[in-house]
Formats: sequence, structure tokens, C-alpha cells
Amino acid sequence: MEVVILPGSKQIGKLAADAIEALLQRKPHAVLGLATGSSPVPVYDELAARHGRGLDFGAAHAFALDEYVGLAPGHRESYREVIMREFAGRVNIRTENVHTPDGAAADIPAECQAYEDTMKAAGGVDLQILGVGTDGHIGFNEPGSSLASRTRIKTLIEQTRRDNARFFGSLADVPHHVLTQGLGTILEARHVVLVATGAQKSRAVRDFVEGAVSAICPASVLQFHPHATVLVDEAAASSLR
Ligand code: F6R
Repeated sequence: MEVVILPGSKQIGKLAADAIEALLQRKPHAVLGLATGSSPVPVYDELAARHGRGLDFGAAHAFALDEYVGLAPGHRESYREVIMREFAGRVNIRTENVHTPDGAAADIPAECQAYEDTMKAAGGVDLQILGVGTDGHIGFNEPGSSLASRTRIKTLIEQTRRDNARFFGSLADVPHHVLTQGLGTILEARHVVLVATGAQKSRAVRDFVEGAVSAICPASVLQFHPHATVLVDEAAASSLR
């Protein structure tokens, strides 16, 4: 695992975008793995700016990490909508090449298997952007998730619902359930780039970078990944030894 400490989110966005730009130049039909939440926003801002200067997503594919269960289709905070608004709608990626798990599917296990199958048929994820939760989750693999898990339904813990209430206006509106790629699924991405900023992430960063590999800290599974890059600002790095 390579940890890069940068002055702020602007620099983090540029470094992550450098990796994505290099990938797209080498492989225009690359498969990107997308996270939502606050952490990847500087990356998407930078990619949108570079698209304005000619970076081409016309042959690329993208797969989201996760989706809420129980939101009405088109809900502003559904991750499909967030990804369209913050990334896909700002570059020339084809809408049909942007995949998100269907949180409204009638048959959830079948939907999760279909999502895995579609990812595999697309050739697997080349570069996965990740954030990390204050409890060490990646995707929505909360503490206790199997390190070998695949895409499935999960229950959010109260801390994560509280952390995400800022997007919904009230805690009561935050769904309790999500579909998420598993830790085993995420580990199959060829390169993972995890972004963490702010002091509220410093304990999670210390635990997954320097602590034991354990289901209690799901992001620690990245210690097994052959090509994991962790981009942090000084506040998020402040608890590292
Ligand atoms: C979002 C996701 C989550 C977030 C994490 C951090 O798709 O999978 O793991 O990356 O909850 O969220 P932010 O970046 O909002 O602090």
C-alpha cells in the first residue's frame, strides 16, 4: 500500500485524475469504479475540467460501488443520481456504460449477482476510486463484513447513517439498507485509489493503514491489494506514526 500525504483536496484530485488520465490514454475502454460521498468530489471536478481540455471518456465504462435501497427512482440522493450529477453528466461517458446496482430491484440477490456478472463481462474494474467511512468501511461494507464478501444487501450502522444525514436533511430520511460491492469484489479491481480528507478520517486511516487486517476495520483488507494507493491530506494523516 502506498500512502501519499498531500496539502489538500485540490492536489489529491489532481493526482487521482493523473492516474485516470494515464489509464484512459493506455486503454480508452477502461472500466472505472466510482465512489460517491464527499471524498471523490475533487477527483470528479478535476476530471470534468480535463474533459473540457479534451480528456475522452467516450469508450469508458463505470460501475458504482453501492446504492441505497428504498429510495424512489430518481431520488436526488440515490447514488445513480449523484454519479450522474457529479461525474457522468459532466464528461462524455455514455449513459448506458454507467452502471449502478438497482436498489429498487424486486429480487435483490438476483440483482446483486447480475451486477457482479455485468462487471465481469465488462472485463473487471481497472481503477477503483474509494472513500473511507469514519468506522473504516469501504463501499458500504460495515465493520464485521466478510473480507471475501461479494455484492449484497447490507444494513448501515447508526454512525454511517448519522454521517450521511447531511445529504438528506434529516437522519430519519437516510435509508437503513444498501446494496454494496463486497470486499472481495473491490479487491479484484486492478488498482484502487482511496481518498480521505479531514481530521474526522484520521482514526480510520491509522487503523486501516497501520492496524491489523481485520473485518472490524474493513478498509484494512486493502493491505492485501497488490496496487493500492491512499491519497490523504495532512489532517487525515495526522494519526499515522
Ligand atoms: C460511497 C461509499 C462510502 C463512502 C464513505 C465516505 O459510495 O462507498 O464508502 O466513500 O462513506 O464518505 P465521504 O466521502 O462522504 O466521507
